Amino acid sequence: MTNADLEKLVDTSDEWIVSRTGIKERRVAPDGMAVSDMSVIACERALEAAGMHSHEIDLVILGTVTPDFKLPSTACVIQEKMDLPNATAFDVVSACTGFINGLSVASALIETGAYKNALVIGSEKLSSVLNYKDRNTCILFGDGAGAAVLSASEDGSGIIGTYLKSDGKLRDLLWIKDGGAVSPVNAGYAFEGDDKINMSGGDIFKVAVRQMCNAAVEVIEKAGLTSDDIALVIPHQANIRIIGAISKRLKISMDKVFVNIEKYGNTSAASVPIALDEAYRAGRIKKGDHVLMVAFGGGLIWGSALVKW
Ligand code: COA
Repeated sequence: MTNADLEKLVDTSDEWIVSRTGIKERRVAPDGMAVSDMSVIACERALEAAGMHSHEIDLVILGTVTPDFKLPSTACVIQEKMDLPNATAFDVVSACTGFINGLSVASALIETGAYKNALVIGSEKLSSVLNYKDRNTCILFGDGAGAAVLSASEDGSGIIGTYLKSDGKLRDLLWIKDGGAVSPVNAGYAFEGDDKINMSGGDIFKVAVRQMCNAAVEVIEKAGLTSDDIALVIPHQANIRIIGAISKRLKISMDKVFVNIEKYGNTSAASVPIALDEAYRAGRIKKGDHVLMVAFGGGLIWGSALVKW
């Protein structure tokens, strides 16, 4: 869906969207394609890249806020579709930091020795929770999926630090109010857009810049490194101006920051793994590089993960 397509739905313009967000297009999954279906494609490509058979996976963690069903977890649906008989599977509901939270949990569980090979997925069908009459939100978000395989390593490579934080006091800055147990959407529900994403963009912008920088600094310093040691930053793709502000504050130049927001918009939990995959396949990550992932989302919630590749 291009900006020109959105001009036909709401009072907006390509010029406004590009200059305020950096987004030119976003993907919209067709009817009948659910988060599990997009995840399967990402998982198959991740397993192929890792040279691994599905039966070797013993842990599946999916970050999503747009699950196939309320019950069971979509991770269990993926388990069945992917033929992962030796795994335990569950979802994390951490909005745009879903992949980072998933990485953090998978890495900690692998460190205990209880699990060996994890599939960590970020996947969203945000088009199913967008109000295409609300220009504040419908221009920002898109659908997509990304996945990574994590395995135990002994050579010092891997996830060398993670940082997770949230502030529930700010939960109504970005939320879907209706449709849960507190405010069910039953027959006769009068649509007012409260069962779709509602957002206070300006308030989020400021917190996003401050807390993504904090999350980055926390994980870099804890590893005994500085910004100069970071070869590549994979930030959550929410707004090119947020990404630019982070680059400036962290003193990491934009040529070390991966950006693909123009093609996909904000894909929530899928944003970081899609960017990681594109960066890797484009040859932007070499053995030994320190790669910093940092994200921010509804909760409000934020977090980072530092990887020695
Ligand atoms: N097209 C045209 N005009 C729009 C518009 C659109 N799609 N959306 C909002 N506007 C209008 C507003 O109504 C406002 O009009 P007003 O001045 O008459 O009230 C004007 O543009 C300026 O809005 P403002 O909110 O100041 O713009 P902004 O520069 O802050 O950009 C966002 C808006 C949403 C792009 C920006 O705040 C943002 O990206 N915030 C973070 C959101 C985010 O990342 N959320 C997900 C977190 S994971």
